[in-house]
Amino acid sequence: MTDFWSIWISVITIAVMVGCFLLVTHTRKSEIHKETTTEVLAHSFDGVEELDNPLPRWWFNMFMITIVFGIVYLFLYPGLGNYKGYLNWTSHNQWEEEMAHAEKHYQPVFSRFAQLSVEQISNDQKALQIGQRMFANNCALCHGQGGVGAFGFPNLSDNDWLYGGDGATIETTITNGRNGAMPPWGAVLGEEGIRNVTSYVLSLSGQEANAKLVAQGKITFQSTCVACHGADAKGIAALGAPNLTDNVWLYGGSFEKVSHTIRQGRAGVMPAHKNLLNQDKIHLIAGYVYGLSR
Ligand code: HEC
Ligand code: HEC
Repeated sequence: MTDFWSIWISVITIAVMVGCFLLVTHTRKSEIHKETTTEVLAHSFDGVEELDNPLPRWWFNMFMITIVFGIVYLFLYPGLGNYKGYLNWTSHNQWEEEMAHAEKHYQPVFSRFAQLSVEQISNDQKALQIGQRMFANNCALCHGQGGVGAFGFPNLSDNDWLYGGDGATIETTITNGRNGAMPPWGAVLGEEGIRNVTSYVLSLSGQEANAKLVAQGKITFQSTCVACHGADAKGIAALGAPNLTDNVWLYGGSFEKVSHTIRQGRAGVMPAHKNLLNQDKIHLIAGYVYGLSR
């Protein structure tokens, strides 16, 4: 907040409180009566008349208490512009304190499972329950409930892996994240080249395609695509290049979708979780994911 707005807010807040105080004490001056009066003020409406009595004392006191509360509150907590408050409270450090508290409380639970291997976790009922909840909170947004995946987000419950499905690889994927890099080929191959190689890719998984185009596409594939997808087109896990022969598609397996993938390229990003979850939690989730496909 700039100094101007800080002062602006502080002045208004204090002025309102002082104003309330003056108003309430000012109306108090008719206390000269001491006793309740029956003296009627010179106006009435609809049979209702106003007596010249001060605020009842309890009511006056309530006003005073709220004003005092306001002053104490504004002293302790941030409320006046940039003033941080005597207690230095922020919602952020309150959140951090609560997180640290929860961490201390639950860490032993996670540490216990840290002794088990990913494979053992996938057989431990209790660990799977916790893993499932953590998956729902951290991963299901992208990978779907139960890890079934969606367009562009791989299915984790089948046994088809971009990067590998053994415990250590899953853990590395979650810890460091992954960047799929399928380059765009539209400019290189031209529309005809894209059509041919798409036909060839479809034929790899047994889909119908024009034999002549397939033959031409195969030549392009051998020269352009095998470096990443492998000579047998079964993919190379180290690069995250998918198997193109199994009819499992990350970005759709129709002619349209496949040619779009090849023309424009794709770049799926799995975010790194090492700064979001500690190693023991990642280990536990990895066990849950490992169990999904087995
Ligand atoms: C913001 C979306 C997003 C979130 C959140 C996310 N992922 Fe992913 N994940 C992806 C994408 C996209 C890929 C595919 C990356 C690629 O195309 O190369 C992926 C890939 C993976 C893979 C590799 C799959 C394979 O076939 O090799 C695993 C395992 C995985 N994620 C597990 C998780 C787990 C566990 C979590 C939660 C801790 C998680 N992901 C959270 C988007 C996400
Ligand atoms: C530099 C390495 C590289 C090269 C070269 C490459 N690809 Fe890819 N390809 C990938 C990666 C990595 C992915 C996964 C992208 C992702 O996860 O977002 C991919 C994804 C694909 C997909 C999507 C598969 C699915 O499941 O939806 C198709 C189709 C594809 N590539 C075809 C080709 C064709 C055809 C060529 C040659 C013209 C080619 N690729 C060249 C790395 C490569």
